[in-house]
Amino acid sequence: MANGISMQHVEEIIDAHGAEVRNLIAIMQDIQGEYKYLSPEVLEKIADKLGIGVAKVYSVATFYENFSLEAKGKNIVKVCDGTACHVRKSQPIYDAIRENLSLTGRQKTSADGLFTLETVACLGACGLAPVVTVNDQVHSKMTPDEAIRLLDEIRSKEAQNA
Ligand code: FES
Repeated sequence: MANGISMQHVEEIIDAHGAEVRNLIAIMQDIQGEYKYLSPEVLEKIADKLGIGVAKVYSVATFYENFSLEAKGKNIVKVCDGTACHVRKSQPIYDAIRENLSLTGRQKTSADGLFTLETVACLGACGLAPVVTVNDQVHSKMTPDEAIRLLDEIRSKEAQNA
């Protein structure tokens, strides 16, 4: 077990597809479907079983946006980046959350594992723009300050439950 991932099960998934390079993407999709992300150990295991370099597996995993290389946080925050929300200034909200969570580069999950920040295409609630969801609950007419207040609220709830 590494990060809740059963390497034995990972091997089973690889074997079920057939340990061949042409199955690489299907294998990664299945493993991600199961564990929501691909850990370094998983990528190494795939490379090993398929007899290819781990760099090759990494390059495929990073090329496709849908593959996630880090575990998701406990709370998933999504900022709508559809046109209506964008026009009503969703970007400053996204930037404020990123800064508040101290995210750098491609990092999407805060170091404390509490939050993962994502963007999402139109949520179909354009009249409420700009929209942010926290664990799929919609928060309308957001501002950067209000978004940070939401994060703080979750933090204090988590602290109470700890
Ligand atoms: S653009 Fe954000 S809800 Fe439609």
